[in-house]
Formats: sequence, structure tokens, C-alpha cells
Amino acid sequence: MKVGILGSGVVGQALGRGFASRGYSVKVSSRTPYSQKLKEWVRKNGKNASTGTFAEAAAFGDLLVLATPGTAAEVAIDLAGRNNFDGKVLIDVTNALDFRGGSAGLFVGTTDSLGERIQNKLPKAKVVKCFNTVGNTQMVDPKHKDAEMLICGNDDAAKKEVSRIVTEFGWKGVIDVGGIDGARWLEALVPLWVRVGTKLNVWDHVFKVLR
Ligand SMILES: NC(=O)c1ccc[n+]([C@@H]2O[C@H](COP(=O)([O-])OP(=O)(O)OC[C@H]3O[C@@H](n4cnc5c(N)ncnc54)[C@H](OP(=O)(O)O)[C@@H]3O)[C@@H](O)[C@H]2O)c1
Repeated sequence: MKVGILGSGVVGQALGRGFASRGYSVKVSSRTPYSQKLKEWVRKNGKNASTGTFAEAAAFGDLLVLATPGTAAEVAIDLAGRNNFDGKVLIDVTNALDFRGGSAGLFVGTTDSLGERIQNKLPKAKVVKCFNTVGNTQMVDPKHKDAEMLICGNDDAAKKEVSRIVTEFGWKGVIDVGGIDGARWLEALVPLWVRVGTKLNVWDHVFKVLR
């Protein structure tokens, strides 16, 4: 399977490494896809790894990942070309973090979410919110192997596929919290994750559901 990743920051690179290491062909994208930073990422990740523009990555992938700042999500989708998302699973990792108040808050929340905005902008894509509640170092080969990833989305088959990938990346499994409106609450967990990290001075922490 081919995977197109929109975004080449720490998240795009971490998930790109995860896919490439599991045998998927991956194209990570940027507005400057042949920068020194990305040439180095390709060199480290071998023959399954490549880079391109947002539009090239979106056309390349059978499965797509959105990993830009929440504020840039819609711009990145427009650069990628909306029809490149039709019929595809889109893993949405974005967060609506807003630090303007001095500590972590949200620029959209409780009655709306980035996940819903992205699904509304791309009605023919199957958006699954995933990976947004954990730090980039824990997305692949996590330290806490007994925790489950929180996901949501409207399409059951898409969530099943993403769940398989999450398990392949080393997670115990997923907890599916329902339709894409669940993104309101997955995104709302993240300011809390930042506050806990700041308080404990750890950044590889994850929330685990005990039962
Ligand atoms: N960092 C984490 O541990 C973590 C964990 C969970 C979720 N998240 C969420 O995942 C997303 C990605 O995180 P990150 O830390 O990897 O982000 P990042 O480093 O800030 O993202 C950089 C990527 O976004 C693109 N971008 C930035 N502004 C843009 C704009 N105006 N138009 C088009 N593209 C733009 C950049 O493109 P260029 O390459 O062209 O500059 C680059 O590819 C965020 O929404 C974040 O909240 C992060």
C-alpha cells in the first residue's frame, strides 16, 4: 500500500518512518520537499521513503495522513487538491492547540472540531482521527505497550484499517469512541496532555484507560 503524508514536521517524519519500516511506500510532503532535512529523512528511511509536494503526496497515497498544524490543515488540503482525497482513508493527526492565553487551550472545541471541519471539507474521504492524543515519539514502537489508542470517525471499515495499522505500529489496540464528532473530545484531551507533561516534565506520557 502507498501512503501519502501531508506534513513533514516531527509527526509526518515519525509516522513516515513507521510506515516505511513496515514495508509501505511513503511520500512525505512539504512546500520545500527537497530540503536538506527531508533528503536526510529519505536517506535514513531507505527505499520505501520519498518526498514530494502536498499534491504529489496526496495523488500518490492510497491512504493519506494529515499532519500539519491545525491552523494550516485547510490550506494544506487545498494545496493537496481536494479530489485527491476522494474515496480514501485520511488519518487526521491535527490538533487545535492555541497558546495565546499563556497555557495550552483550543482554537476550536466543544461544539465543533478540526476532525469534523476536515470531514465536512472532504465529504468523499473517510476521516479517522488518530494519533493526536499521544506525543510523536510514542506514535510508532511506543514505550507503553499496554495502552490503547483513542480513535473516531464515521466509516467503520476505515476505522478497522486504521486499527490494524495502530496495532502494526506496536500499540495494544484502539478504543473507538464513535463518529467523527468524537474528535471534539479527542482534541480536547490534548491541552490536558500538555499540562500534565509540563507538570511532570515528561513528554512520552500517554493516557491509558483502566478497566
Ligand atoms: N508534535 C507532536 O508530538 C504531536 C502529537 C500529536 C499531534 N500533533 C499534531 O500533529 C500536527 C503536526 O505536528 P508537527 O509537530 O509535526 O507540526 P509542524 O512541525 O508544525 O508541521 C509542519 C508541517 O506543516 C506544514 N505547514 C505549516 N504551516 C503551513 C501552511 N501555512 N501551509 C501549508 N503547510 C504548512 C509544514 O510545511 P513545510 O514543510 O512546507 O514548512 C510542515 O510540513 C499538528 O496539528 C500537531 O498539533 C503533534
